Amino acid sequence: MTLTAKDIFARATIIPVMTVDNVESAVELGRKLYKQGFEVLEVTLRTSAAIHAIEEMRRELPHALVGAGTVLNDEQLQSVIAAGAQFAISPGATDALLKAGAAADIPLIPGVATVSEAMNGMQYGYTEFKLFPAEAVGGVKLLKAISAPLADITFCPTGGINEANYKDYLALPNVACVGGSWII
Ligand code: 3PG
Repeated sequence: MTLTAKDIFARATIIPVMTVDNVESAVELGRKLYKQGFEVLEVTLRTSAAIHAIEEMRRELPHALVGAGTVLNDEQLQSVIAAGAQFAISPGATDALLKAGAAADIPLIPGVATVSEAMNGMQYGYTEFKLFPAEAVGGVKLLKAISAPLADITFCPTGGINEANYKDYLALPNVACVGGSWII
């Protein structure tokens, strides 16, 4: 069965954002996080080890949901799909990426920071978004303000989320989960 962004959001409360320097330590960290209850893991494409780390984590952690973060364009989307990523997350949402994500076999969770960006994504059929960088663009206040006009849209706020504020985000009806590096 094909996974949807809704499925990813349903399985996650906090998505650890992993930036990994080598494959072995990535697998080790992934294993530790999974054991602690983090089923959904995001590996950012910010290091040269990322793609191989995704491949290995898929092999070694068959019950986790392993996805790629910092996916900026179609080419990167295709490379993470080839590596076995089960979902892709982007900090932004170009039309080219939205189009590629809508046609892809894995769910893409595009990043938005404004109502217009979310509306643009909605035109391609997206209803789940990353809010990025959440704290810098208005955080909880912004999410509360847009929940009425953007009914049916669900967010995973990321960027500046930490131990002190994550519960405020999770308490919002339009927030399914949060992402962040702090948890690591
Ligand atoms: C991301 O790619 O989602 C962010 O870099 C994570 O943001 P954080 O480091 O502030 O948690």
